Amino acid sequence: MSHSDSAQFIAGYPLKAHNTFGFDVRAQFACRIEHEEQLMAAVRDPRAAGLPRLVLGGGSNVVLTGDFGGLVLLVALRGRQVVREDDEAWYVEAAGGEPWHEFVGWTLSQGMPGLENLALIPGTVGAAPIQNIGAYGLEMCERFASLRVVELATGEVVELDARACQFGYRDSFFKREGRDRFVITSVTFRLPKVWQPRAGYADLARALAVNDTAVGSPSESDGSQPSAQAIFDAVVAVRRAKLPDPLELGNAGSFFKNPVVDAAQFGALKLREPEVVSYPQPDGRVKLAAGWLIDRCGWKGRAMGAAAVHERQALVLVNRGGASGAEVLALAKAIQRDVLERFGVELDAEPVCL
Ligand code: EPU
Repeated sequence: MSHSDSAQFIAGYPLKAHNTFGFDVRAQFACRIEHEEQLMAAVRDPRAAGLPRLVLGGGSNVVLTGDFGGLVLLVALRGRQVVREDDEAWYVEAAGGEPWHEFVGWTLSQGMPGLENLALIPGTVGAAPIQNIGAYGLEMCERFASLRVVELATGEVVELDARACQFGYRDSFFKREGRDRFVITSVTFRLPKVWQPRAGYADLARALAVNDTAVGSPSESDGSQPSAQAIFDAVVAVRRAKLPDPLELGNAGSFFKNPVVDAAQFGALKLREPEVVSYPQPDGRVKLAAGWLIDRCGWKGRAMGAAAVHERQALVLVNRGGASGAEVLALAKAIQRDVLERFGVELDAEPVCL
């Protein structure tokens, strides 16, 4: 057995540094995966027989409510390259363990814009398709070409296209039927050569306008368009202003999805709450800003034990220090109950709760 395909099991592995909430829990076993061949060696190791498995990238979308009695696969696969190019687009492949934000910065530095709206999202490239990450007017699926997975039951390597991944709002095949069955080892993005800025999202447009005035360059009214780098910088600035840095204050980004309601329910709600923040959907339904609903219920900045609602973004739950996953879930439940009572709207958790 070569060094690259042997599995190094670590018993009682501390996960505190592997989940962005910073919960102090342990895994029965953990195994760091630096080469694809190590995956199946780990899964087929007799010590892992019959144990549940958890695949962790950056741990930025998971709530660990206790010690994990199973095998944690720490995906540390690295590498990124342009794999193909045609008249219309570049195809860029990155390994599952690449840190997402670094990857986005690298594509820009290589003169291949298109992912700038997704700057500063925590986590890894391999995790991005699972919840189809999105922010500031762009979803990952709009730049997606294909991905490679290893099926853990068989060891088979399969390439899946967008259709197979069934992307939706913060959703994909991997959150449903595909859950816990695959490891995403690499993702290929399609970055169109004709680049169009995506600068319409309110917070982003505001930040771009401010920068424009600050440097005394032509304003939007001149028809000049922001560069990809300017969008990247503005997204970073907006995120830093609103969202807590997980290294300073444990969190998993938005804790709830923005709920989507039908037109009739929205009409009734709008009558009662004229200021409700909403986004009409192509199918006639309406997406509501969960942060606004939670804020309206008075939860912003409130705490239950060491778990709290962030002071600048009510959609983000934080660990003020020493909170457990159970405490965060108790806070989430209380919020869900209040929002349901007041608005008749159910909030679904965004991160995976274990
Ligand atoms: N709002 C409030 N109070 C709050 C929070 C928000 O009134 O405490 C209002 C805002 O004023 C705004 C609206 O709600 O009018 C939406 O807020 P924001 O622009 O901050 O975005 P969001 O809908 O709360 C979503 C994503 C974020 C993403 C931003 C920007 C989800 C679940 N969340 O948040 O994604 O960064 O839009 O595109 O879709 C994540 O998924 O982890 C995440 C951070």
